[in-house]
Amino acid sequence: MSTAPQVHHETRAAEKPLTLVRGDAAPEVLQVPQVPQVPQVPAASTVSDGAPAGRSYAGPLGLVRKLADRVREDVDGAIERDPAANSRVELVLTSPGLHAIWAHRGLHELWKRPGGRLPARVLATVARSVTGVEIHPAARLGRRFFIDHGMGVVIGETAEVGDDVMLYHGVTLGGRSMEHVKRHPTVGNRVTIGAGARVLGPIHVGDDVQIGANSVVVKDVPAGAVATGIPAVIRFPKSDATNQWLDPAMYI
Ligand SMILES: CC(C)(COP(=O)(O)OP(=O)(O)OC[C@H]1O[C@@H](n2cnc3c(N)ncnc32)[C@H](O)[C@@H]1OP(=O)(O)O)[C@@H](O)C(=O)NCCC(=O)NCCS
Repeated sequence: MSTAPQVHHETRAAEKPLTLVRGDAAPEVLQVPQVPQVPQVPAASTVSDGAPAGRSYAGPLGLVRKLADRVREDVDGAIERDPAANSRVELVLTSPGLHAIWAHRGLHELWKRPGGRLPARVLATVARSVTGVEIHPAARLGRRFFIDHGMGVVIGETAEVGDDVMLYHGVTLGGRSMEHVKRHPTVGNRVTIGAGARVLGPIHVGDDVQIGANSVVVKDVPAGAVATGIPAVIRFPKSDATNQWLDPAMYI
């Protein structure tokens, strides 16, 4: 997760120098050095383009900075959610899900540029061969997205995924229409989708939803719900079971 730089502002009432008096000695005046003015930085951690406060994604190196920030927070999110991971280095080197996401982050930028669509599709095919994860370069993925195990995941062209979402292997965010329209799901924030689940059509999956392994979801899922089965049945957890990171070890 990106951390806004903490700027600590010290306030001192001492416009006047401090005066120390030792016994009979004449008062000794201590000059307090002027506190340099610290520029006011907004406390909010992000601005509209997602840049942390004090950092800019403008200019020729902006895209590189942005991708580097995304990579860093992807790793942070992944290590919290993968109980089998021993270190960040291990994850960076061995997680096909992360490799697929990083390839996608670059290819999505390429897709948006004039003339970039064909190369983006070709390179996405290469990434699929290496990672076993197929993500259309036009798909819009949020921050700190994580795919555990990777293999067999398919994310379609018009899919949209929020922040802090986790998929297991074999998940499909697919379409049910052959028309060139919005035909893939929109997934909210903090959603977990279990292994082998199919989420099909231009449906909306609300925030904090959990979708069970091997479920088939073809209708909207309200925020906070658990959807399981074929076709998926919706229920609401009795307690605070919406916390997707509650006990990830139970999934392994
Ligand atoms: C959907 C899920 C999040 C539900 O977790 P939960 O809220 O703790 O649910 P419970 O274990 O209390 O089960 C509640 C009910 O749902 C059923 N259920 C749970 N998961 C199910 C699934 N995937 N498909 C169908 N029914 C399921 C249980 O059998 C139970 O039924 P019952 O009330 O008739 O006994 C979880 O079961 C799941 O599927 N997680 C994905 C895990 C995964 O993909 N792991 C891959 C690791 S590699």
